[in-house]
Amino acid sequence: MTHPEQTITRGHRTFHAFTDIDSLDQYALELWRDAYETALRTHGRFFAALSGGNTPAGLYRRIADDPRPVDWNNVHLFLVDERFVPPGHDESNARMIRETLVSRIPLNEDNFHTIPTETATPEIVAAVYEDHLKTFFAMHGTQSPAFDLMLLGIGEDGHTASLFPESPSLNERTAFTAATSSPVSPAERITLTFPVINNSEHIIFIAAGANKRHVLEHIASSDKPEFPAEFVQPRHGNVLFLLDISAGTFLY
Ligand code: 6PG
Repeated sequence: MTHPEQTITRGHRTFHAFTDIDSLDQYALELWRDAYETALRTHGRFFAALSGGNTPAGLYRRIADDPRPVDWNNVHLFLVDERFVPPGHDESNARMIRETLVSRIPLNEDNFHTIPTETATPEIVAAVYEDHLKTFFAMHGTQSPAFDLMLLGIGEDGHTASLFPESPSLNERTAFTAATSSPVSPAERITLTFPVINNSEHIIFIAAGANKRHVLEHIASSDKPEFPAEFVQPRHGNVLFLLDISAGTFLY
């Protein structure tokens, strides 16, 4: 197993810096495996919420290529967020996750819970996804979505999921999903909200690139929340930030 080159913990956040994205992805794969094995042992299933964007693609490929046995019938993959584009669109998070992971593992289609962007408006899509989450998790014994693993990215504006600065959805404390607007195209998004994100057993951020360093350095050093990603505050446990050396220079 690879190990971080640098680590600091401040409050409920631990930051690991890795020499390169390959070492980071290998470490993240082991965290994924640990979360999977713990979930199977404790409640017989593994519920993971996956982010889109570019950074996690390498990890998704490693998960697909991992030779260790996986009880895929008891694994359920959900989307953290989605752009309001058709499922096969280049900008679709579901498309990226399907290409890098789902198409390469024996996962039942019913176990890949995408966000139905074929529906009329982002607001209706969010409501449909919310109803699906409520039904699914009630069937599995909890009133609120309780993910075993929440995998998040972070933007250089400090957004995470599709929770962007100045967005009213940052203040959402009851709904599990929201329709939001992104300053970068595609503008219309659907996202999980903080009540769901913060109810997860393990929350892991993956970030790479010097363009994110300033945000991560602020999060690691300031007690005054400024960015949406700082409102990821788990009900229990730590938030783990896995950074490549460019994003985590401040740790050296
Ligand atoms: C999305 C993601 C978003 C992403 C960050 C980082 O829909 O784009 O969910 O929150 O994680 O924007 O994206 P990169 O990994 O491409 O830098």
